[in-house]
Amino acid sequence: MIPKHVAIIMDGNRRWAKEHNLPAIEGHRRVAIKILEPLIEHAADVGVEYLTLWAWSTENWKRTKGEVGGIMKLLRWGFNSYGMRMYKKGMRIKVIGDISKLDKDIQGLLAKLIELTKNNKRIMVIFALNYGGRDEIFRAVKKASQPDAFPLFLDTAGIPDPDLIIRPGGEKRLSGFLLWQSQYSELLFTDWYMPEFTPKRLDEAITEFMARKRRFGR
Ligand code: FPP
Repeated sequence: MIPKHVAIIMDGNRRWAKEHNLPAIEGHRRVAIKILEPLIEHAADVGVEYLTLWAWSTENWKRTKGEVGGIMKLLRWGFNSYGMRMYKKGMRIKVIGDISKLDKDIQGLLAKLIELTKNNKRIMVIFALNYGGRDEIFRAVKKASQPDAFPLFLDTAGIPDPDLIIRPGGEKRLSGFLLWQSQYSELLFTDWYMPEFTPKRLDEAITEFMARKRRFGR
């Protein structure tokens, strides 16, 4: 079966840039400008219902001012242009993470897109922004009063757990991505970098996923 929910840890952007003798921001720019749109489009075409993209972690603020500023610019640009196209294509946009730390205009843009696309059904694209698994769990614990209701207080309330988590870039760890939700996720670590993630590679990942035997502890 096609994975209902695919989640991607977008990694390896700076290494890709370095290998191509480019400044680090060019790796991020390539992902934002060239890679994401066809990938999201293809995921929707093959029947993926939820696609989560980790674009900014709670730890990424420790990067240089220049890189942080550059990525914020890309987010602003991306949500303004591609965000609006996603709306017109019938895609739904959601966000996980504590976006109160992002610039006010980006927060406003996201609120607008979330509201505008709330009845869209084609695919739900979930952007993980200022996201960290421990941060998410801690925020949920502060809000939850009954243990059974706990998942309802996570940022992902109402979204099924990811079936497949893909991490390009060669690192074999989750770094706190969907810490609670990844219990039975199939994991795929690839040697190629996020700026090289083509629709064909998504097909290959899905084929590998479909060959795995999932038992959910049974
Ligand atoms: C990780 O690679 C990537 C990031 C920290 C930033 C990713 C964000 C974008 C590509 C912007 C996305 C834009 C929109 C509109 C959603 P890395 O920098 O850690 O690479 P490395 O592992 O090679 O150092």
